[in-house]
Amino acid sequence: MTTVSDVQFEQYHEPNTFGVHETKPRLSWKLTNAPSGFRQHGYEVELSVQHTPAETTAVSTVKHTSALCTLVSWPFDEPLQSRQRVSVRVRVWDEQAKVTDWSEPARLEVGLLNRATDWTAQLITAPWAPSTSTSGPQPEQLFRKPFSVDSEASIDRARLYITAQGVYEAEINGGRIGDHFLAPGWTAYDGRLQYQTYDVTGALQSTGANCLGVRIAEGWFCGRIGFEGGHRNIWGPHPALMAQLEITYSDGSVQGVCTDASWSVTSGPIRLAEIYDGEKYDATLEVPSWSCAAGDNIAESAAGSRWEPALVLPPLPDAVQLTAGFGEPVRRVETLQPVEKMTTPLGKTIVDFGQNLVGYIRVKKIRGARHDKITLSHAEVLENGELGTRPLRICRATDEYTLKGTPEGESYEPRFTFHGFRYLQVDGWPGDLDLLASVEAVVCHTDMKPAGDFACSEPLLNQLYQNVRWGMRGNFLSVPTDCPQRDERMGWTGDLALFAPTAVLIYDCFNMLRNWLIDVEHDQGVLGGVPPMVSPNATLPDPVWCRRLPCAIWHDVTILGPWALYEETGDVAILAQQHNSMLEWMRVLPRSKSGTLTHLWDPAPFQLGDWLDPAAPPDQPWKSATDAKMVANMFLVQSLDLMSRISSLLNRSSEHDHFTSEAALARAEFHREYVTPTGRLVSDTQAAYALAISLDILTPSQLPRAAARLAELVRKANFCIATGFAATPYLCEALASTGHLQVAFAALLQTRCPSWLYPVTMGATTVWERWDGLLPPEEGGGINPGEMTSFNHYALGAVAKFMHERIAGLRRLEPGWTRCRVEPAVGARFVSGSAEHETLRGRVSCRWSTTGMGADSGEEVMRLSVCVPYGTAVEVVLPTVDAGQRREEVGHGTWEFETTFKRDYEWPVVPLKPKSN
Ligand code: BGC
Repeated sequence: MTTVSDVQFEQYHEPNTFGVHETKPRLSWKLTNAPSGFRQHGYEVELSVQHTPAETTAVSTVKHTSALCTLVSWPFDEPLQSRQRVSVRVRVWDEQAKVTDWSEPARLEVGLLNRATDWTAQLITAPWAPSTSTSGPQPEQLFRKPFSVDSEASIDRARLYITAQGVYEAEINGGRIGDHFLAPGWTAYDGRLQYQTYDVTGALQSTGANCLGVRIAEGWFCGRIGFEGGHRNIWGPHPALMAQLEITYSDGSVQGVCTDASWSVTSGPIRLAEIYDGEKYDATLEVPSWSCAAGDNIAESAAGSRWEPALVLPPLPDAVQLTAGFGEPVRRVETLQPVEKMTTPLGKTIVDFGQNLVGYIRVKKIRGARHDKITLSHAEVLENGELGTRPLRICRATDEYTLKGTPEGESYEPRFTFHGFRYLQVDGWPGDLDLLASVEAVVCHTDMKPAGDFACSEPLLNQLYQNVRWGMRGNFLSVPTDCPQRDERMGWTGDLALFAPTAVLIYDCFNMLRNWLIDVEHDQGVLGGVPPMVSPNATLPDPVWCRRLPCAIWHDVTILGPWALYEETGDVAILAQQHNSMLEWMRVLPRSKSGTLTHLWDPAPFQLGDWLDPAAPPDQPWKSATDAKMVANMFLVQSLDLMSRISSLLNRSSEHDHFTSEAALARAEFHREYVTPTGRLVSDTQAAYALAISLDILTPSQLPRAAARLAELVRKANFCIATGFAATPYLCEALASTGHLQVAFAALLQTRCPSWLYPVTMGATTVWERWDGLLPPEEGGGINPGEMTSFNHYALGAVAKFMHERIAGLRRLEPGWTRCRVEPAVGARFVSGSAEHETLRGRVSCRWSTTGMGADSGEEVMRLSVCVPYGTAVEVVLPTVDAGQRREEVGHGTWEFETTFKRDYEWPVVPLKPKSN
């Protein structure tokens, strides 16, 4: 019986359908258990709108004859209004007019859409804040506002709309509100500030006195951000708060509790709250019951400062959009227990969590004397048996807790900082307490929904895949960052441009990236059309980085980011949203004016090129073996090609003609400048050939020579990798797509440095920034001396896409997964593989294994099972015994296949075991 399930508004997943900024959200649903001949012929949507508690729910329905079940336009005339609560059910019918049951209702609540009419809260701060803004990091501010509810009336619902310039955490009557971490998240604060909506109905006392308390700290807004010491106060001189509690009674009347001059503020026990340096919490300075209804005990804070009236600030500038944003919030997603405690050669106590992760340490039930201090220092690796902190650069990554001396024990977890670490050094630990039982690691990241998985018969590759997944988790924290541990953690545009096609396979990051790309465009506007190197643009105060630095790849994120999201979902709206940003970048990209080369990059600007390839000296990561200007030009050709496709998808025909001709001219100039007629490239490197092949730069007559040369270079390097950030995502696919799949597998399975598996053999649990983050044992095994030595950078992990597509064999053929292919790997030593992916239409998956048929025959049997959701067609490609292929096309359902085949090899090519010398 066909069932309609998972009705979804836009790309929101429960519980993130609360307080959204949408007026006509598109709808998608999944059809499960549909019999094989089933075709949706039409749908009916039922909308229930609850206007006010007094009014009964209004219901309307709309029917359409249509086969569409994803991103269906909002079928009702009236746009949704601020605060509106709706639910939607869907049912569909087939060609025989057989109607399904209604789906479960999907619920959505709209946030505050109109700043001018919906917000009455004022922006407030501590009265002392303006005078301390240049004095370095400041303690948190605690705000409180006691209020009474009408005990005669019954409360229908209560909502807290809240934001801060900085970071905040709210409490009502002593209990924490919501599960967000580091709210309101990081945006280009000069253009957009996000607020959150919480259902606080259950937190209120229905009779008598209540209290709303909010603590705020500097966060990204005015805390130190940036490398080489960074800058404070990038977006403003001090933190501020804006909160609006709306209590709606059953008679429809509304009571507001909004930030204004009647709020009180004092300093709190968090004395330092820095993203990089960590948090210092002094429990002796706690203000008991600070967020509870008034009592004498809170007249003065223990910190010595009195509660003072809040200072009302001028309203947010009109230029700053107050928005719910689109991304999921950052949450505390998982806890990990320590695996080992050790004592270092210097006598320090270190705890190993067995996993490089991003979050913080929770300390439970510690007992000690008042004013005793416990210091928690974090690092990703050990060096000479001690905490390896040098790669953190100017970043202390240390939390400090001062005990108040409670006999029954104290617990602590930081609120306003995070660290990237596997190892924890603990100083000042009370000797008699079991350390391992008293600490746990809390993993925090943007709470994206998992979207896929991969496994195969090679354990090292499975570990690599998990490392890529952990790398993504650690670096998708409010914005996509380069690394989560050192003095950066910024939204480096190039890193995302290269990783986005892989990211979408692992987690559903559509909303988070949609949100971030809006900020990229904002920052681009500030820089006159040139995109920022990082967004939010923390380099704004920096004279060098804030110059309009046009840079290939990094700035091509304006096109590559939306394109990856479009390919994953088939949603043209994301291309429309970012269209101006793309056009602007193409407009300002400086072109060469020399002689006949007028369509390629101006050779003058510095290019990061194939950043961090193994040939680049540790202290000069831009000095890769491949001509950086050539790399820039290959990405330019790709961007022009994509612009031609995007303009056609957006029905902009003259723009399409323009970009098609621009791409042809740039490609022709590229050939003149960089390619021999037979297909050799001026940079005779893996990166040059991998990019030229994958970015479709070459003519059909040049391709075979280039492909052969790439395979030759990879063999010559003993299957070690010679590419950096730019070309690594493309290397294996360039080999595979030109008939050298086995060479690609050999590179993937190589364990000698530089290779993907070398870090895995060195115990890595995330993807490293550089191939040799830890030097090989024969070179001493220590931490690489370079400055770029993060152990959690996602760029080189982009190869996970190749693993999905070529080992497990599951690949998308059409945007939005309407068509895909399952073509299991036949090669190397793979004897099983599996992948699954959650698409808008449902889960598509494949699982295969092979068994030998006896040593002599060389024949093997492959069994494959494929699950296909409704709305997706899968082309299954199986190997046959005559080294040929059998192709079949299947629709929704579960399918089993069996085939006998012989492996066709260029394999083994050379021994892959590391040489003993
Ligand atoms: C970051 C990179 C980034 C690069 C570009 C580094 O410091 O960690 O990932 O793309 O700078 O300059």
